[in-house]
This record gives sequence, structure tokens and C-alpha cells, in this order.
Amino acid sequence: MCGIIGIASNKSVATNIIQSLKKLEYRGYDSAGIATIVNGDIDEKKCIGRVDNLEKILFKNPSNGPLGIGHVRWATHGIPNQANAHPHSSEEVSVVHNGIIENSNELKKNLEKKGYKFKSQTDTEVITLLLTDFLKKFDLINAINKTLEKLNGSFALGIIFKKYNNVVVGARRGSPLAVGYGPEENYLGSDSYALKSMTNKITYLDDGDLCVLTSGKVEFYNLKNIKINKEILTLSNDKHAAEKGDYKDFMSKEINEQNITAKTCIKEYVDQLKQDINLYNFPIKPEIINKIVLIGCGTAYHSCVTAKYWFEELTNIAIEVDIASEFRYRKIIFDSNNLYIFVSQSGETADTLAALDLCKKNKAKTCSIVNVVESSIARTSEFVLPIHAGPEIGVASTKTFIGQMLVLYILAIKISEVRKEISRSDYTNKINELKKLPDLIQNTLNCQDKMQIIAKDFLQARGAMFLGRGLSFPIALEGALKLKELSYLHAEGYPAGEMKHGPLALIEEGLPVVILAPKDRYFEKTISNMQEVIARGGKVILISNESNNIISENVRFTLKIPATDDLLTPFLMTIPLQLLAYHVASLKNCDIDKPRNLAKSVTVE
Ligand code: AGP
Repeated sequence: MCGIIGIASNKSVATNIIQSLKKLEYRGYDSAGIATIVNGDIDEKKCIGRVDNLEKILFKNPSNGPLGIGHVRWATHGIPNQANAHPHSSEEVSVVHNGIIENSNELKKNLEKKGYKFKSQTDTEVITLLLTDFLKKFDLINAINKTLEKLNGSFALGIIFKKYNNVVVGARRGSPLAVGYGPEENYLGSDSYALKSMTNKITYLDDGDLCVLTSGKVEFYNLKNIKINKEILTLSNDKHAAEKGDYKDFMSKEINEQNITAKTCIKEYVDQLKQDINLYNFPIKPEIINKIVLIGCGTAYHSCVTAKYWFEELTNIAIEVDIASEFRYRKIIFDSNNLYIFVSQSGETADTLAALDLCKKNKAKTCSIVNVVESSIARTSEFVLPIHAGPEIGVASTKTFIGQMLVLYILAIKISEVRKEISRSDYTNKINELKKLPDLIQNTLNCQDKMQIIAKDFLQARGAMFLGRGLSFPIALEGALKLKELSYLHAEGYPAGEMKHGPLALIEEGLPVVILAPKDRYFEKTISNMQEVIARGGKVILISNESNNIISENVRFTLKIPATDDLLTPFLMTIPLQLLAYHVASLKNCDIDKPRNLAKSVTVE
């Protein structure tokens, strides 16, 4: 992950670098650093922790160079300390890096033999010293190319030089990088979000591309060192969506916006007049699909598991779900009648992108469901279904989970209708029910106060369990993921029927167990599993759309969510679980938007 920024200008760039780094903190916040050229020399400043700390250092000791690079780190090689913070500089060059250099040990040994000394434990420093070495014999572009040829692994780089003190160089292989164009200055950034406050004119680098920025121009080179022209895109302005407004943190804003997320997404896909779903130029005729393979990581994977139940219920298509980091290394038998769907909020997740690349290499039909439409996954896949959720800043995925599930559900009912697996009237009913969803989400959001009370029960707990069957099982997984990532409390999500095969041993007096039991075909079974938990001392929080007082006996808390079509319950079940995780984390004073050890966009393996 890590975030990179670079600015080539004629005026001091430190303030803009700091502001952009603050935007990039969602990619990593173990340390931060900046390097500029001051009086002909590289001036490097770095700190452990947040960009605020770096800002304080610069306030006391300004760095007024007219070009520079900055970095926020998510540690891979070497602990998060000052020495390992980027940039990594020699007398001659300063480098910021996102990615992993897989052969860094070997390169390090060779450089040490030549007499170079390392100051950090990072893989990045080999780039600094290789480049320093090649610059003794080669000009700028050749020295960079010689260096890049030596590197195995993935990188996005930002580099400044003592000798070539008017240029910022960027290079991409496997990690995202964009160039922005401003009046009398140009920018380099890990994503358009970091650059948006300065420009809306963006070019995305492709793998193998190199760019050389000065204040007045940008030049691009391809793998073969040939100068190339690249497309300049004009981005839409969604500045307000990326502001916290009156909310305490981005996560509470993003949870509370979910009715709007749903409304926007439904409007984008459902033709209000024709009561139909728009799906033009789909990469494969739904009638000939043999199998659908759904691939993602983390929360995105949970939306895929949820979709498996929808597709199986609504179509006769075989469905497989895979975690991207597993899929990319499996021996897959590809079939031209299979459809491979990649789900990702950021569209930059390295494992998901690699799994997509594998499909592309095997000429498989691919489609992506992303939030960031300019992302690598969106650009690599044959067909993109955006979720239209607007920027999500909190590291925990909330509104984008709702958005991913919505697009998958919409796709499932459309494919089912095209294949004539549901009748036209069922299809229209499903669309009508779907249109009610934003209001139902809004009603469900009214459980805020209750979830805050329930959260107190989790403070003394050693862990928690989330149980559900059918469509509630993936939501149990997601509830557990949200709780662990935000509150650092151990949590397990399980199919309720699986408890007796082992996890029931975890139930002890007072352990909070969240039971997801909508009134669907699993209801009675789930309630029996709940009784087994109660009999062993579990403190049950029952979430259901059925208000049956008898069932609620011996249950510590019952939360009633609105009734809806069975297939839509996952959307409503999700909301109390997000709020639960939010309030437990908040009571524990955890950093809500930036949980420890994590980052929003996971661009390393
Ligand atoms: C969960 O809250 C996380 N944000 C994480 O699991 C995330 O879903 C995963 O890293 C995949 O990210 P993506 O959707 O950007 O591909």
C-alpha cells in the first residue's frame, strides 16, 4: 500500500505535499516523510506515525524547495521507525516507493560488496543506491532504466535528483501511479484522490511506464524507452463527498449515507419508466454462461459470498467464490463460457488485480464491480459495473459493501430475467422491492442508540461470535470482520449450523453471540442453534425481522429490523453490525477511520 506524492513546480511545494499526504493517509500511516531540493541539495525530513507529526517538524524547520516528493508508509520490510520511513536518500537521489522489491536481499549484498552502506531495513533503499551507482556512468533515463531492470517485484516510484534538480520522475510496475497537470506545475500521485485538490486533469500510468515531470511539461516513456503520448482524463468533481461535514469521523458519515448510496446505485441501473435494468454491452450473453466465478478480498469477498446465494437462488448457473490471493495461485481450468467477476472498492487491490490478469492471460470473460472507476481493475477488466458510492475514506468498508452487494443483486436478477429463469412479473416485483430498499436502510439506521447500548456488553468480553444461515452467513462473516478490524476484539463469523462441529466449545458464560435470524426458510433452525448457545451461557444479541416474544426469552437484547423480501435482508442485517463495530471501537477509543496495521487500498501481496 503506501501513498506517494510528487510535485514539480517553481514555488515552494511542502504545503501541498503535506495536504496531499493527509489525503493519502488511508493507504498507510506507520510513518511519513518528504524530500525537496533546497539550495541544490536534497533536504529530507521524516517521522514515525501521522502526517500531522511531519507537519509539526516542517513548521519548526521549513523546507522551501520548488519540487519534491512525499510518502506515507504501510510497513512491509522493516518496523515502522524513522530510519525505515521514506524517502530514502543518498547524496544524489531521493526515492519514495509503494510495493515490494522481491530480490532486495540479493541486490543489497551486491551493493554492500561495492562499498555502499545501508541506513534502513527496507527493500526501497536498494533502489536509491542502485540509482546512485548507475548515475555515475549513465544519464538520467538510462540510469533509471538500468535500475528498474534489476528489480523484481512491484513498485510505484517517485524520485528526485541532486544533479537533475528540476525534475520529478515516476515509474510504475504493478502498483498504481497517476500524473496530474496544473498551472505552472505538475504532479505525481498514488491516486487521483490525492491530486484532486490541485487538478482534475489526470493521466494514469500503465505497467512499465516512466514519466518525467518538470513544472512546465510531462514526458512519458514506455518499457522500450520510447517516448509515448498518453490520454489526459478530466475527472468529475466530488469534493464534498470526500469531506467529513458535521460527522465525527468518515465511518459514521459513510454508514449514515447508505440510504443515499443505495438510492444512487439503483437510479444508475434501474430504468424507472420501463421497470427494467440497464445492462448494455455485457461481455458475455447471459444465456450462454456456464459458470460465474466471483473473486475479491476481505469485505469484497463477503459481498461475493452473499451473491453466490442470490445467483444460485435466481439462476441455474453454477457459482464459485474465491479469495483473490488464493485464486491467483490455483491451477484453474478456464472456459470461454465462464464469467469471472472481480469485486473491489478501490480497484487497486494487488491480489484481485493479479487474479484478473490471470483471467485476461487465459482469455476469460471478465467483469469488474468497483467504486473507483479510474482504477487499474476497472481499466483492466472487459466490462465495468461501478457501484457509484462516492469516495469512501474510512478504512473499514461500509457503504461500498452495500454498493457491491447491490450491483451483484441487480446483476443476478437481470441475468435471471434474460435467461427466463424468473417470470417477467417476478422480475418486476423484485425491481419494485429493490426500489423500497433506500427507505428501509434509512429506517434500519434508527437503531444507532440501541447499538450503542449493546456495544457496552462487548467491552469486558474476550471475543465475540456472529452466527447466521443462508444469506445471513456471509453477513455474519462481515460483522465479525468489522468488529475485529475496528475494535481489535477477536471475533468469529460462522454458519450457525456448523457450531456443533467445533466452535461451540468457544461458548462460555457471558460471551457475546450475535444471532442473525431473519424470518426466512432457515429461521427455526437458526433459533435452535441460538438456544444451544444460550444453554451454554452465551449472551445472545438476536437480530431479526420477526418479533416473537417467546423466542426472545433468555435473549439479552433483541433488535428488530424492517421486514422485506427475503433476498434483500442482507442489506438490512449489515447495518446494525456496522454500528455495533463502530460503537465498540469508539467506546474503546480506537482510531475509527484508521485502524491499526491496516490501510484502505492494499496494493501489495
Ligand atoms: C474491510 O473493511 C476492508 N476495507 C478490506 O477487507 C477490503 O474489503 C479489502 O482489503 C479489499 O479491498 P478492495 O475492496 O479495495 O479490493
